[in-house]
Amino acid sequence: MSNLFINIGHRKNIINKNIYGHFAEHLGRCIYEGIYVGEGSEIPNVNGIRRDVADALRHIRVPVLRWPGGCFADEYHWKDGVGPKEKRKKMVNTHWGGVVEDNSFGTHEFMELCNQIDCEPYISGNLGSGTVQEMSEWVEYLTFGGLSPMSDWRAENGRKEPWKVKYFGVGNENWGCGGNMRPEYYADEYRRYQTYVRNYGENKIYKIACGSTSYDYDWTEKLMSAAGKYMDALTLHHYTLPTGNWDKKGGATGFTEREYYQTVINCLKMDELISNHLQIMNRYDPEHRVGLIVDEWGTWYDAEPGTNPGFLYQQNTMRDAVVAAATLNIFNKYSGRVVMANIAQTVNVLQAIILTDGAKMVLTPTYHVFDLFKAHQDAALVDSYLEPEFIDFEGASIPRLSASASVDAGGALNITAANLSMKDSALVECDARGIDITSAEAKLLSARAGAYNTFDRPGVVKLRDADVKITNGKLFFEIPSNSVMHISVR
Ligand code: AHR
Repeated sequence: MSNLFINIGHRKNIINKNIYGHFAEHLGRCIYEGIYVGEGSEIPNVNGIRRDVADALRHIRVPVLRWPGGCFADEYHWKDGVGPKEKRKKMVNTHWGGVVEDNSFGTHEFMELCNQIDCEPYISGNLGSGTVQEMSEWVEYLTFGGLSPMSDWRAENGRKEPWKVKYFGVGNENWGCGGNMRPEYYADEYRRYQTYVRNYGENKIYKIACGSTSYDYDWTEKLMSAAGKYMDALTLHHYTLPTGNWDKKGGATGFTEREYYQTVINCLKMDELISNHLQIMNRYDPEHRVGLIVDEWGTWYDAEPGTNPGFLYQQNTMRDAVVAAATLNIFNKYSGRVVMANIAQTVNVLQAIILTDGAKMVLTPTYHVFDLFKAHQDAALVDSYLEPEFIDFEGASIPRLSASASVDAGGALNITAANLSMKDSALVECDARGIDITSAEAKLLSARAGAYNTFDRPGVVKLRDADVKITNGKLFFEIPSNSVMHISVR
């Protein structure tokens, strides 16, 4: 029996709903086909945005969406993507497959998408190859309501009222695809660019500086030291590769037990990464004013055989569901400082929550995890403690379970738990202090570790109701191997 203790009396911080955020880049079939098909398409759409995909995104309450990249952001010139479509410039998407980008999905289309799915936009500005003026004018175009060249141009292009835009990223991966900069250089550039990212009227921009990748602590140190006071948040990117080797990452399906556990071990590194980056940030920001945003995370496998390797298309199995659940539980744990996270990426790219093939659409196991975890959005994190238990695999000790708990505005206790074992089921006894339990309902996502959904068989991995027993005021439930559960308690 595994033991989980929860103390409802000890409410910590509110879990920022933006931890359940997403990321959509002009990469492969994420934007084009995956989200945007154009008004003339036979695929049912509203103003060019796929109806099926928008419905699915609304259902899991996507709180925030990052766009247009990624590496693409630092080559993107936003002015090419506004105005009459037939006049928009075509460009080469050099990072991602060398395909033609026709700019038919630009600022107005992105804001329309956010409006349709009712989420906040998070715009990633171009510092790598764009000018200060260009970035400054994008913010003016988006948010200025008075008389100005950008505001006039926006009105000419069909939008009189300014939009509300809070989240603005000043560059992406500027240590790599965003300009191969040294931290000292980027810190100075960040300071310069952000100066011209203005607040207009009531609109207050939350300025996000480009942070490090995984273990690059030096970047965090130098950024915080030189530019900490000019930012509202700093980012972190961490991808989970089964092998840890970028040249041979391992496949999304047909993996071995060793690859399964390597993937789990690598995703759990998120915990120490967040903790270590925060320790550095805290030295420069003892008041904890600057938030940490993990705006790219998820699994990264070798692209599906037969697909363009530059499109980063991969299948998604129960292994991905376990990775998503364990990672989201870690974000909940650090939600006092982690203010946003964006899984990479929404449709057809990396750890996608949705896959499409022309008019067909399928929800992946990772999608269902976001559905199970949505109850934590803006809820109060409460103390939870799992009695330590480990899986021994080839000399490695891997935690057997992962869990977190919160209390929502209606007073319900929501527990999310994942069984990380690929073999053994877990019987859990949960002692929740501070609540007189009268009812409990559970939803379970469970299938064999390698199971996934296809366009022909979309329901192989899906949510179902599960049993929870209440005995002497305690909860008892069973989580099968490599499965994820949400329990709602009143
Ligand atoms: O998500 C795919 C790519 O990974 C992004 O474009 C980039 O920021 C990161 O390296």
